[in-house]
Amino acid sequence: MAIEKVSSEDFERINSAVDKLKMYFSKKANEIGRPLTYNIRTYGCQLNESDSEKLAGYLDQMGLVDTDAQPADVNIFNTCSIRENANDRLYGNLGVYKSEKLKNKDMIIAVCGCMMKVDENIAKIRKSFPYVDLIFDPQQLHLMPILLLKSLNSKKQAVEINDVDYIADDNNMPITRKRKFRALVPIMYGCNNFCTYCIVPFTRGRERSRDFDEIIKQLNDLAKEGYKEIMLLGQNVNSYGKDLGANKSFADLLRAAAQIKGFSRIRFMTSHPKDLSDEIIDIMATYDSIETHLHLPVQSGSNYVLARMNRHYTREQYLHIVKLFREKVPEGAISTDIIVGFPGETEQDFEDTLSIVEEVKYDSAFTFQYSIRPGTKAATYEDQVPQDVVTERFGRLLELQNRLVYESNQRMVGKTYEVLIEGESSTAPDILTGRTKCNHLVNFIIPESVCKFTDANEFEGKLAMIKITEAKPYSVEGVLESFINE
Ligand code: SAH
Ligand code: SF4
Ligand code: F3S
Repeated sequence: MAIEKVSSEDFERINSAVDKLKMYFSKKANEIGRPLTYNIRTYGCQLNESDSEKLAGYLDQMGLVDTDAQPADVNIFNTCSIRENANDRLYGNLGVYKSEKLKNKDMIIAVCGCMMKVDENIAKIRKSFPYVDLIFDPQQLHLMPILLLKSLNSKKQAVEINDVDYIADDNNMPITRKRKFRALVPIMYGCNNFCTYCIVPFTRGRERSRDFDEIIKQLNDLAKEGYKEIMLLGQNVNSYGKDLGANKSFADLLRAAAQIKGFSRIRFMTSHPKDLSDEIIDIMATYDSIETHLHLPVQSGSNYVLARMNRHYTREQYLHIVKLFREKVPEGAISTDIIVGFPGETEQDFEDTLSIVEEVKYDSAFTFQYSIRPGTKAATYEDQVPQDVVTERFGRLLELQNRLVYESNQRMVGKTYEVLIEGESSTAPDILTGRTKCNHLVNFIIPESVCKFTDANEFEGKLAMIKITEAKPYSVEGVLESFINE
């Protein structure tokens, strides 16, 4: 499998396709008397979110207008393959679009993302959903404009799946960011870890780090544009730089990012426990702009299961990192990912998971039932755990985690936290929501004595001090005391 940098000539070809499409869509818009629209549905992780922001960037450049209404004139499904249920959702959706496509032949449907790296999915789409116009895998994302043009010109399905793992400089791509205060910044792509349950190394290719100076340039630009929060992304950020031969590590990058003025929250994910260095924890403890939250997926508390998962750390090593983090970042929070029912997991192994959860007291945990991913090593293990056992264990884990979250929420009551405001809460129109430095979600009101509440959008990206007044099972509630002037 080759790794290639997208060249400036390639970007010229892409930009020229964008220009032609802009003319095409503007002509169409004149014909039908309204601007053409696009809708992107994104499944999966933040890397997919970031990819969708780039697709949106290109579609905006083409003069299309983002809409929530479905179907739009251009519809993109950015898929995820991490667990099986995602597949069914895509096929359900594509089925619904069939009748729409019959009504409107000019409508465009594109499918991309990690599912497109699994051969059976491509075959199924070609056979059962021939009206899909574009298919491309995550490594070919930057080629979307060229493919779109090709499919419009040929009136045929355009497919771009290949074995080259491209690396495209974000500084050369248009990006329409979803949140006006938060910028997702991939620092590396792919994964070399081959955890035995996981499909990602197959869908995202080999690890490749972005150039250090390109990232720093992008971060400086983002700071100038006024972004308050940056999220450095990679499947395993701690292996950043290993492939560059430039003597730059994730620690160097994090330190350099923290020295850029303007960011109030520097976040990063995901940290693999096998690679998280003491230096990273020291840097977190040193710089005020770095969040005091560590997402540290444990997956299981049993050494037997961890070894079979190919995770390269033991329960004891994991707990050592936790201890170090707690010592150096006492106000910090730890979140995790846990898989229940990995092949061969015994009742004792599962209880080891419960006990590590109890011991670490996670502030939040993403819990998953093991899902067989064809092509991965664990899919060939013969000791798969029966579904009823998985369901029962999953219930017990959830109950424990819910209790811990509630206790963690209760510990916050009466204290005042610095919160970065994200916008309107989904619960009620006059309630706002934001995150503390340790990534705790807070819902709060602004009392009239502080300021008159008009439009929630006005507060997005502002920093404020919030006093926590009440703990709910899954969230905390508070009152805004004052805004922080920056
Ligand atoms: N690179 C990150 C995230 C990978 S995907 C990491 O290593 O932590 C996010 C989470 O999905 C994983 O941490 C894991 O808990 C879960 N996951 C991955 N494959 C899975 C599978 N086959 N079944 C169930 N959960 C899975
Ligand atoms: Fe998957 Fe493991 Fe890579 Fe994470 S580190 S993406 S879990 S293979
Ligand atoms: Fe899903 Fe691919 Fe992300 S499989 S979790 S979208 S890397």
